[in-house]
Amino acid sequence: MTRQCDVIINNVRIASMQKNGNAYGMLADSSVAIKDGKVFSIFDDSETSYQSDIRYDGENKWLLPGFIDCHTHLVYGGNRANEFEQRLQGKTYTEIAQQGGGIQGTVNATREASEQTLLSSAIKRAARLVEEGVTCIEVKSGYGLDLHTELKMLKVAKQISENLPVSIVTTYLGAHTVPKEYRSNPDDYVQFICDQVIPVVAKQRLATCVDVFCESIGFSPAQCRKIFEAAKAHALNVKAHVEQLSDLKGAKLAAEFGAISVDHIEYLDPKDIPVLQKSGTVAVLLPGAFYYLSETQKPPVAALRANQVPMAIATDLNPGSSPIASILTIMNMASVLFGLTPEEVLYGVTLHAAKALNLSNKGQVKTGMDADLCLWDIAHPAELVYGINQHRPSAKWFAGKEC
Ligand code: NIG
Ligand code: FE
Repeated sequence: MTRQCDVIINNVRIASMQKNGNAYGMLADSSVAIKDGKVFSIFDDSETSYQSDIRYDGENKWLLPGFIDCHTHLVYGGNRANEFEQRLQGKTYTEIAQQGGGIQGTVNATREASEQTLLSSAIKRAARLVEEGVTCIEVKSGYGLDLHTELKMLKVAKQISENLPVSIVTTYLGAHTVPKEYRSNPDDYVQFICDQVIPVVAKQRLATCVDVFCESIGFSPAQCRKIFEAAKAHALNVKAHVEQLSDLKGAKLAAEFGAISVDHIEYLDPKDIPVLQKSGTVAVLLPGAFYYLSETQKPPVAALRANQVPMAIATDLNPGSSPIASILTIMNMASVLFGLTPEEVLYGVTLHAAKALNLSNKGQVKTGMDADLCLWDIAHPAELVYGINQHRPSAKWFAGKEC
C-alpha cells in the first residue's frame, strides 16, 4: 500500500521533544511525512510506502519543532533608549516607572503611533525571531491601556502572521500599569478592564489569554483577583507577571484560577511551588529581563525541577526590561544565568512553551501535530544552547510548507 502525502523529509535525526525516555525525545534515522500542514507520520528511513512529489534530503541533520516564544510585548511605539542612559547613571527601573517613565512612556508613544507604524516595527522585531527558528509567538497588549489602543495593538499583533511564516497567540494585558488618567483611582481602572475591555476582547476574539502585572508598581493581588474572575467569566486563559521584583504571592493567586503560566517568578517562595504543580501551571522564566535589569535574585529553578513544574523560556521582548529580539541568546542566558540544562532549555522553547499558551498541537515533532519544523546543521541539540548566535535553521517548514 502506498500512502500519498505533501512533503517527505528523509534522513534526519529528530529531537522530537516527545517524552519517550530518550534525551530530547530523540529518534534516529527517521523520515517525516507531512500532509495538510500536519505531521502525517514519522517512520524509519528504510520504509518505502510513503509517496510524495516533494522530497527533501535532511542529510542526517537534526530536525526540531519550531521554537515558541511564549512571552513577548513586541508591538509598541517608540523605544526607551533614553531610559537606558538614565539607568546607566544609577536610576532603577522602579524609580523610572514611579517618575512617569517606564511602561507609561511607551504607552504615550503607542497611543500616538498609527496602526501601520506599529505593524511595520512589530514585523521587523518578529522577523528577527523567525530567522532564528521561531514559528509561534505570543504577543501581549498593555501599551495602550485605553480601549481603542488596546484593540489596535491586538489587531496589529494578529496581522503579523499575515506577513511572516509564524502563528501568533494574543494576550490582553490591560493590567500592565495604571494609566495616568486613572492614577488617583486605580480601582476604577480595574473595573474598566473587567467591565469594558475584557468583554469586547472576548467577543471580538482578539485574545485568548488575559495577563496582569502583579507588583507594587503594577496591580495588587486583590485587583488581580478581580481581573482573573472577569477573564474566567469570559472563558479566557489566565497568565500573570508575578514575583518579578518582590513576593506578593501572585503565583499562588494565579494558580487558584488555573493559570496556564506564571512568568518571571524570581522572588517566588519555594513553598508556593507545589501549588503550581497541582494546578498544572507552567513557570515561564525570562532571563532577558533578569540580565537587562542587572537583577541578582534568581528564580527557584532547583525547587521547580524537584517539583516537576514545567519550565518554559521566553524573550519577554519589550522596550524596557528586555529589548532582546533573539531567542537563541535567551536560550543561552537560561543556562548560564539560571542553570537550566540544554535539554531543559529546549523543552522550554518547545513543549513547555506550547503548554504555557495552552496549545496542544505545537511544540513536538509528533504524528498529528502542526508541521512547524526546523532543520539544524549541528552534531547535537545542545549546540543550540551552548553558543550564542552561531546557527540559523538550514531549512524550515511552517504549517507544512517550506519557507
Ligand atoms: O515583562 N513586567 C512588566 N512588563 C514587562 C516590562 C515592560 C516594560 O518595561 O515596558 C516585563 O518585563
Ligand atoms: Fe513581560
